[in-house]
Amino acid sequence: MIRSVIRGSGSALPARAVSNAELAKTVDTSDDWIVERTGIRNRYIADDSETTASLATDAARAALVAAGIEASDIDLIVLATATPDQTFPATATIVQNALGCNGGIAFDVAAVCSGFLYALGTADSMLRTGMAKRALVIGAETFSRLMDWEDRTTCVLFGDGAGAIVLEAVEGDDAGAGIIATKLHADGAHNELLYVDGGPSTTGTVGKLRMRGREVFRHAVVNLASVLNEALEEAGLTAADIDWVVPHQANARILDATARKLGLPAEKVIVTVDQHANTSAASVPLAFDVGIRDGRIKPGDLVMFEAMGGGFTWGACLARM
Ligand code: UT7
Repeated sequence: MIRSVIRGSGSALPARAVSNAELAKTVDTSDDWIVERTGIRNRYIADDSETTASLATDAARAALVAAGIEASDIDLIVLATATPDQTFPATATIVQNALGCNGGIAFDVAAVCSGFLYALGTADSMLRTGMAKRALVIGAETFSRLMDWEDRTTCVLFGDGAGAIVLEAVEGDDAGAGIIATKLHADGAHNELLYVDGGPSTTGTVGKLRMRGREVFRHAVVNLASVLNEALEEAGLTAADIDWVVPHQANARILDATARKLGLPAEKVIVTVDQHANTSAASVPLAFDVGIRDGRIKPGDLVMFEAMGGGFTWGACLARM
């Protein structure tokens, strides 16, 4: 049996940190409102020299170093983003070229905030069927480029960044490590609750993000609790077996509500929304990298990744470190 084992992780953030207080100078909002409703205190905003591909490349390099694997050994790059550098080619190919590992498979996945879960599920399937041996799975975004800075209901919520992991196909039992179960879903009926009002085939413009936050919130808590239980059931495990939840970082209240629904203590949830805000596809691997580097997530731990976003799309993945 082949399993996809997580060998290392890395992340990258733009140089510029923007506090709530700084935002409140140009947007009709306050630090109090943002902290109370979302838990967000800070976000990072890319400048013109920082792009989704450059952040992704920096995160990928850090993940390769952590894994002790050379770029030339990577034969698959799956990059999740809703903010590609160009409409085409895929940002994954730009990263591949920057890393100098040309010749393998490289493509982007579009599932917005659930993108990293979709990318992980795709890469895991490809490794387990023998199509590739070592993969970079990346979530990278410059969501600040999609903001309507006049719309306070959305522009305070998002940030930019990238996270990456190295996955390796391992045959036999590598002490039980690797991806155990992945569950993914989509429901296209909810497009109008969270979308971008532009695109190459419609307006010919990039467009701006539009969200009916309260309704998205409601769906998020229900869908996440349900998909987490599905993944646990598939693995034959229970919530009590989970050492760490690494969730999509949209809102601290969603993280609390989901943990409560599962009966999980808040201390088992890796929270970075206060510092990174919502970085869409980048948020799960960014949070994972924080948990790895500060020593909380250790070898042998059972980690639950989960996310929900535009589409709607949502998913969960259980992995043993
Ligand atoms: O990553 C993809 C998934 N996305 C999510 O999961 C986001 C889910 N939704 C949320 O996180 C929350 O719904 C929000 C943070 C977006 C909003 O929080 P809320 O508690 O649902 O607030 P609300 O939309 O019901 O707005 C409450 C009030 C409104 O004023 P009125 O109509 O009650 O007078 C808003 O106009 O807060 C007002 N408001 C603001 N006030 C100050 C909205 N945005 C702001 C703001 N600053 N930035």
